Amino acid sequence: MAALPNGARAGGACTTGLTAMGIAPPERTVPVRVEQVTSQVYTGAIPNPWSTCIMSTYKIAVFVGSLRAASFNLRLARALEKLAPDTIEFEYASLADVPLYNQDNEMSMPPQAAKVKDLIARADGLLFVTPEHNRSIPAALKNAIDWGSRPWGKNSWTGKTAGIVGTSPSAAGTAMAQQHLRNILAAEGVSVLTTPEVFLQYTEGLIDDQYTITNEGTRKFLQGWLDRYLAWVAKLAA
Ligand SMILES: Cc1cc2nc3c(=O)[nH]c(=O)nc-3n(C[C@H](O)[C@H](O)[C@H](O)COP(=O)(O)O)c2cc1C
Repeated sequence: MAALPNGARAGGACTTGLTAMGIAPPERTVPVRVEQVTSQVYTGAIPNPWSTCIMSTYKIAVFVGSLRAASFNLRLARALEKLAPDTIEFEYASLADVPLYNQDNEMSMPPQAAKVKDLIARADGLLFVTPEHNRSIPAALKNAIDWGSRPWGKNSWTGKTAGIVGTSPSAAGTAMAQQHLRNILAAEGVSVLTTPEVFLQYTEGLIDDQYTITNEGTRKFLQGWLDRYLAWVAKLAA
């Protein structure tokens, strides 16, 4: 737990991440109204991203690039969800039933595509968990991104905050797909966490059926990444 002005305290993944990013807690006393001491919820103007650590619940929209039921990337997403604090809600986008993008249908958008746009709009942060297909992102993910960017003037992605991770049985760990995705998201005006990067080589049993990461080193690394990502979301929401 970290001490804040007026005796307030903040803890959890968010503050760990902010510390890792070199963002110090506010130094001077600022007005903080204690709403609910027991669950550490406060409101008030703290001119520092630490304020969001102690007052917010975040919705994270999760985009898993694989449609495969036994997807390693879906497993990775679930494992990250399990590592996240209770104040973080993961909501998974449904990409499988989104029709192929067609500009003719933009003005009467298919409901599945409109649902994706609505999820983006409601999210505080975006999390992309993607395989690599032929050295790029899977078509289903690109399709959803295209719908989300349209119609012209109503780009749902612009101004959002995102993190990218991915896993593959190959040692490259989706590095090239992630680089392509960064390029695409830059064009949409999404602020993507730069480092650390997660290029995870998936090995049998790395994430078990309860979504526990079985390798201690990998678990610590992913916890560190998640803390940093959530701090990034908090910082840009502040
Ligand atoms: C169409 C296709 C293309 C693929 N291309 C790549 C590739 O470029 N790089 C790579 O590391 N793996 C590639 N793979 C293997 C995937 O990494 C592997 O199938 C992985 O399990 C997919 O992720 P998932 O388990 O989340 O579905 C490809 C697989 C498919 C089906």
